[in-house]
Amino acid sequence: MRISMIGTGYVGLVSGTCFSEFGVEVICVDKDAAKIDRLNQGEIPIFEPGLDALVTSNVAAGRLSFTTDLAAAVARSDAVFIAVGTPSRRGDGHADLTYVYDAAREIAAAMNGYTVVVTKSTVPVGTGRAVERIIRETRPDADFDMVSNPEFLREGSAINDFMRPDRVVIGTESERAQQVMRQLYRVLYLIETPILFTSLETSELTKYAANTFLATKITFINEIADLCEHVGADVHDVARGIGLDGRIGRKFLHPGPGYGGSCFPKDTLALVTTARDTGSPLRIVETVVDINARRKRAMADKIIAACEGSVAGKTIAILGLTFKPNTDDMRDSPSLDIVPALLEAGATVRAFDPEGMDEARALLPDITYCDDAYEAMTGADALVVLTEWNAFRALNLARVKEALNAPVMIDLRNVYTPADMAAAGFRYTSVGRPT
Ligand code: UGA
Repeated sequence: MRISMIGTGYVGLVSGTCFSEFGVEVICVDKDAAKIDRLNQGEIPIFEPGLDALVTSNVAAGRLSFTTDLAAAVARSDAVFIAVGTPSRRGDGHADLTYVYDAAREIAAAMNGYTVVVTKSTVPVGTGRAVERIIRETRPDADFDMVSNPEFLREGSAINDFMRPDRVVIGTESERAQQVMRQLYRVLYLIETPILFTSLETSELTKYAANTFLATKITFINEIADLCEHVGADVHDVARGIGLDGRIGRKFLHPGPGYGGSCFPKDTLALVTTARDTGSPLRIVETVVDINARRKRAMADKIIAACEGSVAGKTIAILGLTFKPNTDDMRDSPSLDIVPALLEAGATVRAFDPEGMDEARALLPDITYCDDAYEAMTGADALVVLTEWNAFRALNLARVKEALNAPVMIDLRNVYTPADMAAAGFRYTSVGRPT
């Protein structure tokens, strides 16, 4: 089996590499020649634990290669995966499908013999059919089938999520294409992963429904956390108390500064827009989008309140800038709302993030970037934990207190406990827990 993976972004690079680990021969294609050069030299453009080693071993085994030559790759492939970007279109919230459709035309022109064309990027319902149409128009003689195979991996645990998924969803009506997909995922049959075959549209919608449901779950617990603060309850106990009910489940009930990243904000918005356009609006998700946007801004107010109502002329230390740990991804990170709001309120900001500072510098130019957590907090009037990197879970509290001007900590990820922090002499604020 040989496949092409068009697009070496997060999803493309991880999926391509993992398929090669499954024993499939994979050609990863990207238009960005500099990126392909770097990949060919063994340099991985993203930070993802375990990816580096997996790329190296599969390249060495001759199963994984990188090229800019789409036509040559496609001509040699049994299946072609489209994993290009689908950013939010400016203005209307729809996913921008330009890259997907461009790829479809190029694939059509290059296909050679029966080929399965698979959308791996998250694409709105109806995209698979549109790609099918484009390919037919470009190459009326083409022998191909269209498949939707959305990816459910998370950044930071992408390799494990791909290799040991809860399920695989494959949307296609063609028995022949199903056979090809079964071959590609053969390894997962051995570990008894549920593999669901559906229609194209069902598969596309399943991906959006999963992400919007998870975003809704997070937003629900965030609002419960706010309520906890008003009634003196502890959100972690509430989350455990409801999560142990198997119908609810314990995961994705951790409160925080609002969801971010490259997927939830974009996908919730795209589904809301699609639903509204079809005349079947998703009012719950519309509300989730609105609450989450407000929440990120409200977190700056929470920090200001913890600093006795003003940060004007004060120095705030921020630990963690990425939208979650184990990634260098800054897309839609809560820090992009919180830090500018603090600057606007007159604060000076010093920050440290283990992997995100290169990306952050371009987006948050007006802050001081430090070499480690303790350097960031030295001389600061308050310390904010914004991303739950492991390095911030076990700070030396005596050293923290010594470094800070005042023992003020705002922990937006609840990595410390109020009792411990009180015992250590901190004025401690967290999310949804009595102080
Ligand atoms: C998310 C989904 O979890 C994946 O299943 C999906 O494949 C991916 O989007 C995608 O569509 O490509 P990801 O964005 O990498 O994955 O990260 P998550 O771990 O889901 O976190 C998303 C955001 O939710 C983060 O800002 C995180 O801090 C926040 N979150 C998550 C919470 O605030 N509380 C939680 O309990 C869980």
